[in-house]
Amino acid sequence: MTTTSSAPGKVYLFGEHAVVYGEPAVPCAIERRAHVTVSEREDSRLRVCSGDLSIDGFTVEYSGDRDAGGTPDVDVPAPIVDAAMGYVDAAVEQARAAADAPTAGFDVTIDSEIPLGAGLGSSAAVVVAGIDAATRELGVELDAREVADRAYQVEHTVQDGEASRADTFCSAMGGVVRVSGDDCTTLDAPALPFVIGYDGTSHDTGELVAGVRALREEFGFVADTVTAIGDLVRRGEAALADGDVATLGRLMDINHGLLSGLGVSGRTLDAMVWAARDGGADGAKLTGAGGGGSIVALDAGSGAETALSLTPDCEAAFRADLAREGVRVE
Ligand code: MEV
Repeated sequence: MTTTSSAPGKVYLFGEHAVVYGEPAVPCAIERRAHVTVSEREDSRLRVCSGDLSIDGFTVEYSGDRDAGGTPDVDVPAPIVDAAMGYVDAAVEQARAAADAPTAGFDVTIDSEIPLGAGLGSSAAVVVAGIDAATRELGVELDAREVADRAYQVEHTVQDGEASRADTFCSAMGGVVRVSGDDCTTLDAPALPFVIGYDGTSHDTGELVAGVRALREEFGFVADTVTAIGDLVRRGEAALADGDVATLGRLMDINHGLLSGLGVSGRTLDAMVWAARDGGADGAKLTGAGGGGSIVALDAGSGAETALSLTPDCEAAFRADLAREGVRVE
């Protein structure tokens, strides 16, 4: 048998970084999905093929048998392949545990529309889709919350304890999510016409989080910026409930300014944010840890995407509407 599941990536509408200090944040699933196809093998080996996993400008076309010490098809540094494939190994372990099949082997094929390392939740989407596909392949159907929980365990292990539940919950459940500490819930929301700009780089989340912590320790008043982001998120929840997209855009603009104050924006992110605004977006901000990576704008028209695609700092510009559906079997 063969089973394919898919799961969406995500952007932060509001609240990254402040969420580390207990404020709420609002990640949203986007219509850019990772597809994972799984076939159970007759032996207990794991064979992983991945087309087009772009990491830091590399493309990994890994087509080896990890059990047999397989190698990537192209010259990609081993640590990068190992990091990407570590998620798959751990996801398969979760599926084996959930289905009580500790020696099950699989052929796994990953096909992702979400650039890796861009702050768009690609690893969570691969893990969520992988757990769902592998458990189904073994005859077990987990509910999306259990997939989210098991995917969080994977990220927690692979990232040495440095994972929040936001990415995995959002990818498994879909929609607009409110995260506060370990509490995740989905929120009612209007259609959100996201446009994403990606500068082709990725930055270390741990370093950026540590940078905010150092700034906060040196300048006590920076804590007020963190609180202001929390207040903005609470105001944003009301705008979501009212379906008030114009106010959501204005709040995104303010959120970007506050994130700049925390020192996590950068030239390419600012250039893309301004391009999207000049193109007519309702609002725009960086999404994720910052430094570089991606911005998200709200624009029902085509102006922001066009403006981004003409921006030298922007490597890729694309629409990705709010994904109402989380993990699903294809
Ligand atoms: C990174 O995607 C989001 C941060 O808030 C870190 C975290 O929540 O773990 C910057």
